[in-house]
Amino acid sequence: MSQPVWRQILENQLTENPKYTTYALSTLSPEGQPKVRFVVHRSISPSGLLILTTDTRMQKPVHLALNHTVEAAWWIEPSNVQFRITGQAYTFPLPSSSPTEVSSALQGLGLKDIEDFQGEEKEECTSEWWEEERIRLWEESMSGHLRASFARPKPGKSLEQVEHSSEWPVSLPGKSEDPKEKELIQLALTHFALIAIRPTAVEFLELKPIPNRRTQWTLQSDGTWEENKVAP
Ligand SMILES: Cc1cc2nc3c(=O)[nH]c(=O)nc-3n(C[C@H](O)[C@H](O)[C@H](O)COP(=O)(O)O)c2cc1C
Repeated sequence: MSQPVWRQILENQLTENPKYTTYALSTLSPEGQPKVRFVVHRSISPSGLLILTTDTRMQKPVHLALNHTVEAAWWIEPSNVQFRITGQAYTFPLPSSSPTEVSSALQGLGLKDIEDFQGEEKEECTSEWWEEERIRLWEESMSGHLRASFARPKPGKSLEQVEHSSEWPVSLPGKSEDPKEKELIQLALTHFALIAIRPTAVEFLELKPIPNRRTQWTLQSDGTWEENKVAP
């Protein structure tokens, strides 16, 4: 399948502005309230899913288990452009997840019809690919401080109920032979998850040209993208 136009535009923007990886991601709480927070873009999968990392103990995975709809707003300041990406997101199951959970995430991400894919994209339809990507991002994309956060107390828990912060691990390597570190890495990895977003609509707003430009793409049921240029 050919790549959507927006993907090339986004990838070009990221190549030109490698520091602008932060975007606001909104999920819906169980009560239906929008909840928004900043996250860091980590990678784009071969089939075009946006991948970020999270702690399974945070609220995002809880929200996504009930409602997969998300929206991201991404402002790339040097280029004066905004992407608004609407999609379906799944917390990528950990090795402990049941085959049914893996299968439903693959289905939701549009990775079930394996015959539609070729080469690297085909591998993405397997739980092994997702586990490899999780470990790759753990080892290559996380700082030591961030890795240690996954072995610290549950995010959001009252400070009165957790051990004093002087006891918390400060930094962790990606892997280690030291028994104490090994144990902490194992614990941290039980909380380290991927979230994959399958875009279903993308809006690209360009504020540099006068008049400004606004282009929308919507995913069609046959997998193609319909493009509409609208008034900004
Ligand atoms: C610049 C920046 C980048 C962040 N990146 C991430 C991220 O990639 N993943 C993540 O789970 N939280 C990230 N956070 C923390 C979230 O904004 C949020 O505080 C946390 O995920 C808890 O939110 P939740 O409980 O609603 O899931 C980041 C925060 C900032 C300010």
